[in-house]
Amino acid sequence: MDSKTINEIKEKIHYEVSRTAPPEGFPKFHDIPKERYTSDEFYELEMEYVFNDSWVIAGRVEEIPNSGDYFTFKKLKEPMIIIRGADGVIRCFYNTCQHRGAPVVREEKGSDRRLRCQYHSWTYDITDGALIALPDERDFVDLDRSTRNLPRVSCDTFGGFIFVNKNPEAAPLLDYLGDAAQMLEPLHCENLREVYRQSIVVPCNWKVTAEAFLEVYHFKHIHSNKDGWAVLDNRRAVMGLFDGGHSRMTTGYSEQHVKRQGMDSWDDWKPLDNGDFAIIQTENTDFLNMLDCTSTAVSYFPNYIIPLGSFGFPVLLFWPIDKRNTLLEWWYYAPKDWEGDELPTHWKIRSEQFDQIMDEDKYNMAPMQESLESPALTGIPINYQERRIWHLHEQIDEKIGEDRIPEHLRVQKLLAPYIESA
Ligand code: FES
Ligand SMILES: [Fe+2]
Repeated sequence: MDSKTINEIKEKIHYEVSRTAPPEGFPKFHDIPKERYTSDEFYELEMEYVFNDSWVIAGRVEEIPNSGDYFTFKKLKEPMIIIRGADGVIRCFYNTCQHRGAPVVREEKGSDRRLRCQYHSWTYDITDGALIALPDERDFVDLDRSTRNLPRVSCDTFGGFIFVNKNPEAAPLLDYLGDAAQMLEPLHCENLREVYRQSIVVPCNWKVTAEAFLEVYHFKHIHSNKDGWAVLDNRRAVMGLFDGGHSRMTTGYSEQHVKRQGMDSWDDWKPLDNGDFAIIQTENTDFLNMLDCTSTAVSYFPNYIIPLGSFGFPVLLFWPIDKRNTLLEWWYYAPKDWEGDELPTHWKIRSEQFDQIMDEDKYNMAPMQESLESPALTGIPINYQERRIWHLHEQIDEKIGEDRIPEHLRVQKLLAPYIESA
């Protein structure tokens, strides 16, 4: 992100603080139909047209550093294997033997020179998934090996993250990320390493979990500290809506937090004292200062959100299990300057603080699903501050295709005039 955009964001925060109503001409949203969270029909449409045709994060390149290293991946339902080929390139195949469907590999992680199905030893190449050997081939009449290779899943990498897309004809990853990729580029994510991972299953629709991180309207109400104040001032939130359903949100600190951080005012963006934490190395110091002195998060369609930080950040991932259950994960990355798995004290404290925030967010989620299924809730009114949620829903409908969605389940296209470049 360049300095011009950073300054524009600062100006926009000034505007947000001063306004007394949504901007002139901002559209009135109709209620979001609550059946979008509860109906089988809508869930099936999302799985078929959103999750079967979106780039999602499956893991990190450093998990499989050598040729033949692999891990298995099931979060898009069908079992897959992600493997580094003899040529060093990472690819994804369905982990489904083309003989009788046994899993080709059973371990969650491993390394091998070839992929040999444990059932009858059909054997596949690690680079192109070709069927290269099978016992007693003479007993198959007219077996055409070339039609029995492991089926491929689209796979690419960006910033050290491995992405997969079930659509074999998927648009290139960088085209898909579009302007939103620029939010990560200055942070050289390929140099970061995992600090820790957490995961929980939350009994609610996947969008309930994602939407908790798309606005700060709730912030002071559920994230205030024991002294009764919150780190962020939601009236100082600025949002950028990008093509493709991605979005960004930068929120200024509250007066109390500004003081505690030794800033002169909320817009005094400068390097803060980050104590024992190693800072991400980047040439874009203005961007790093903005991350230090605000909360800045980027959301990638459909299912992951990254609250960025100068000394590292978590990636929050929302995986639908079924229409009312979601696997919520957070993977924390940082410029790791220690050896071994034991976290240094400052990171232990940070991880506990972050897990506490996640806990506060999780607290609402399950009861919300029960209410969504109750006749007591008729629809979901969304305000200007919550417009990233509307943006997510518009993109879901865009992916599904309006004609496939029953009229009572659709959301209107309203935000096109508000799309910006990163
Ligand atoms: S099912 Fe894999 S070799 Fe038979
Ligand atoms: Fe929250």
